[in-house]
Amino acid sequence: MSIQSEIKRVTTHNLQAMKHAGEKIAMLTAYDYSMARILDDAGIDILLVGDSASNVMAGHETTLPITLDHMIYHAQSVVRAVHRALVVVDLPFGSYQSNPGKALESAIRIMKESGAHAVKLEGGAEVEEAIQRILKAGIPVMGHLGLTPQSIYKFGTYAVRAREEAEAAKLREDARLLAEIGCFSIVLEKIPADLAGEVARSVEPPIIGIGAGPQVDGQVLVTHDMIGLTKDFQPRFLRRYLNLYESMLEATRSYIRDVREGDFPNEKEQY
Ligand code: KIV
Repeated sequence: MSIQSEIKRVTTHNLQAMKHAGEKIAMLTAYDYSMARILDDAGIDILLVGDSASNVMAGHETTLPITLDHMIYHAQSVVRAVHRALVVVDLPFGSYQSNPGKALESAIRIMKESGAHAVKLEGGAEVEEAIQRILKAGIPVMGHLGLTPQSIYKFGTYAVRAREEAEAAKLREDARLLAEIGCFSIVLEKIPADLAGEVARSVEPPIIGIGAGPQVDGQVLVTHDMIGLTKDFQPRFLRRYLNLYESMLEATRSYIRDVREGDFPNEKEQY
């Protein structure tokens, strides 16, 4: 019997045990009740209320505009739907970078007002103190290294990170630091597969990859991309399991046609 199939409610401890047992961890994003319900019923291990809500829910170009209040609203909706998955919520841009006290206050608001189980934030040594303050309050923290979208204006591009040795060395250091201070897991986004594998083998916490190859301990995708609700975002790492954009386009066109032709509602669809 696998650990994963025995879990009634996913905890950070289960995830660590899965890593030790060599069982891969499946994580997806969720921002609303209906979607979270389906993903949880399907047996997803971690649901991330990602600040990618800024892109896929609100239509912003970057993750920067989303606020702490918005994140808490999305997290509340997800938590109401979930019976099994661990719910992790992104600390949005501006809610933790300025000082560790503010970071702790933001994390506490998320935990208190949404009922989520953990927070995630982007960065390594620069946010060490913020992470330590949050961890000291008993709040589990997931790290996020590699392509960190909240720093898009520093990077200037969404291209693969840490191809150069200097950046790869900093990433190895940051991963070691996050593991040492007690992050329960780390997301590695869009970095070379061999580097991600090396990091996963060298630190204790489970490493969850997105565009980081197969040698890590688990994978995450933005659900809207995975089910094909988005259509213009087509990075090489993305596998689409559905083409919901096309299916919904077809369904909506059929509905419009039926309404216009007086075919909907029919006799059975009225009182
Ligand atoms: O916000 C998000 O969806 C994320 C994932 C891409 C890991 O941080």
